[in-house]
Amino acid sequence: MMEKRVELYAGKAKSVYTTDDPDKLVLHFRDDTSAFDGQRIEQLARKGMVNNRFNAFIMAKLQAAGIPTHFEQLISDNEVLVKRMDMIPVECVVRNVAAGSLCRRLGVQEGIDLNPPTFEFFLKNDLLHDPMVNESHIETFGWATPDEVVTMKALTFKVNSVLKQLFLEGGMLLVDYKLEFGRFRGEVILGDEFSPDGCRLWDVNSREKLDKDRFRQGLGGVVEAYEEVARRLGIELPQ
Ligand code: TMP
Repeated sequence: MMEKRVELYAGKAKSVYTTDDPDKLVLHFRDDTSAFDGQRIEQLARKGMVNNRFNAFIMAKLQAAGIPTHFEQLISDNEVLVKRMDMIPVECVVRNVAAGSLCRRLGVQEGIDLNPPTFEFFLKNDLLHDPMVNESHIETFGWATPDEVVTMKALTFKVNSVLKQLFLEGGMLLVDYKLEFGRFRGEVILGDEFSPDGCRLWDVNSREKLDKDRFRQGLGGVVEAYEEVARRLGIELPQ
């Protein structure tokens, strides 16, 4: 069993620990739930456990579809063992349906289909409110090389083809999602997490929101919605 050693970093929802293996880290999923770049944080019981289990399920699906990820193995309800990567400080967002900042920025109506899906990069920087950046910024400021940009984009779209179908089979629309990548032994691989904290999922018929927008918009039933998403995908959660 891999033991946690030193806390390296505490993010808004996860803490990162070293292990005895220099190539492996433990991620601890906390119950903290943040919105508006950390301006609002609340603890929601079971959220850490639900997201950890959910993430492990999705990462395994992506890995099976040929997408390289940092996921190694679940180690407890709230902890996962991952590869230690050098993180690339940009967020990759694909949108299948208009929502969130796209509607605010471009004045488009929430809910319209985006065909083809759009792709956006954001700089991971809460103080600057994660500004949108382009490939030229990424190259000029050295956040990633042009080759890495091509790989991140291709992998983010490949994730879309796998997950759109998976969620649809559970009666859900994958509206949009955010991915983060890092480098491991020279290869760009998927890191961070995939959970309802970092994507939008709507019921395909009622269009009810089943993701973190419930928290952002004060709709209530946040963890209940995440558990419903898990149930629809056949993910077993401890009571
Ligand atoms: P946005 O509409 O706020 O730009 O977000 C698009 C998607 O990416 C949405 O599913 C939420 C997710 N996201 C995060 O999880 N964290 C972030 O910092 C950003 C910018 C987006």
